[in-house]
Amino acid sequence: MADITDLVDIENGRLKGAVFTDEEIYEQELEKVWKRAWVMLAHDSMIPKKGDFLQTYIGEDPVMVVRQKDGSVKGFLNQCRHRGMRICRVDKGTAKAFTCTFHGWSYDLGGDLIQVPRQDTAYPETFERGDYSAVKVPRIEYYKGFWFGTWDEDAPSFVDYLGSAAYYLDGYIDRWDGGMEQVAFHRWVLPNNWKFMAEQPTSDMQHSEITHVSAATVLNKGSDAADRTKRGTNPVGRQFFSDYGHGGAWYGEKGAEVPNTGQAIQAYESQPEIAEMIARRLGDDREVRGHLNIWPTFMVLGNYTIRVTHPRGPHEMEVWAWTFVPKDAPEDVKDSIRRDVLRTFTPGGMFEADDALNWEEMQHVLKGKVARDTGYLYQMVGAPIQWDEGCYPGGSSQHVFSDNAAINMYANYLDMMTSDSWEELMEKRAQHRMGLEPASVEA
Ligand code: FES
Ligand SMILES: [Fe+2]
Repeated sequence: MADITDLVDIENGRLKGAVFTDEEIYEQELEKVWKRAWVMLAHDSMIPKKGDFLQTYIGEDPVMVVRQKDGSVKGFLNQCRHRGMRICRVDKGTAKAFTCTFHGWSYDLGGDLIQVPRQDTAYPETFERGDYSAVKVPRIEYYKGFWFGTWDEDAPSFVDYLGSAAYYLDGYIDRWDGGMEQVAFHRWVLPNNWKFMAEQPTSDMQHSEITHVSAATVLNKGSDAADRTKRGTNPVGRQFFSDYGHGGAWYGEKGAEVPNTGQAIQAYESQPEIAEMIARRLGDDREVRGHLNIWPTFMVLGNYTIRVTHPRGPHEMEVWAWTFVPKDAPEDVKDSIRRDVLRTFTPGGMFEADDALNWEEMQHVLKGKVARDTGYLYQMVGAPIQWDEGCYPGGSSQHVFSDNAAINMYANYLDMMTSDSWEELMEKRAQHRMGLEPASVEA
């Protein structure tokens, strides 16, 4: 049986390729990561009215997310308790109840079984519908417009799970009095392991100065690509990471230009009354937008593509990406943000295509046995780690190009994979946080 502790070496910044290819490791991930972590299920604007629903996933498990009559949101496994069909096969809509199309069992908005054809005449009297409600997502919590769920009843609250990452996440999603709304949705499948993509907004800003140079040149109308990639400069910025594997990075400090935040948003926010509103909500020094990942795969980028990737076996992932806009912004601003994301971070987007090619290539090379055993390095850890430095909670380093957040992500991953409960995981994380040092680099 594959042993994850043989494959992930945090101290020396090395990972074996099997972390991204092995079927047994993947099965363990479904159990230890995806049945335990908090996963983003929906935003208010996706299911605004009672009876509104969408189906999504937690890991590979299909989940119905439904706005209840009292305004709350519930989630349940989209699997009929009769013979296991999906209860609902529609992606999104509004319903009063859900009727399985195989034999007609019906469930209410909360997933309780309310009708079974021929129950009176063909089932024994002892048959109780209450015993066969859909499997409920036991914990669902709300955070600033978003609904998150976990299968693990013993998980910490979502706010505790976010920890110091809340400060950074709020910098993206809590800026505007009127909140946000989603205006576009794309989903697509890529032939690579889900962790390749998770790692990128968590930690890897440095690839942009190489991978994205052509796209940045075109997008900047032929002017200096450094505007969007910082190529050839010594970029001022910061990378952060926190206890449960979350991480992010951004260029610039207070008051600096934010190069990979969409130009449409920047123009909107430079209006004095909008700038004032943001300063009132976030304070003067919280310009923390670049890219961010809340482990495992809730990703937010500075031009407001917000996404979740779903694992699809070790060799494939499914990306669900929404474009968000400030709800109170004028229509032309919203449309400009939508087009900016379309150009950059959708399946046909220029940065997205660059990234996808890298991940596909990495996965393809790992078909080779020698390549799989050779593995990967995460040794760009020269920037010293600071804890709760100045206005920046959590761990951070004062260099936007760093593997520290990736190392932290894989340290959390290793702890999750080797813990049998949240209690054990929390203990391990607390110990490892205290001891977290830049990895000692072996020759
Ligand atoms: S499988 Fe759903 S009613 Fe039979
Ligand atoms: Fe990229």
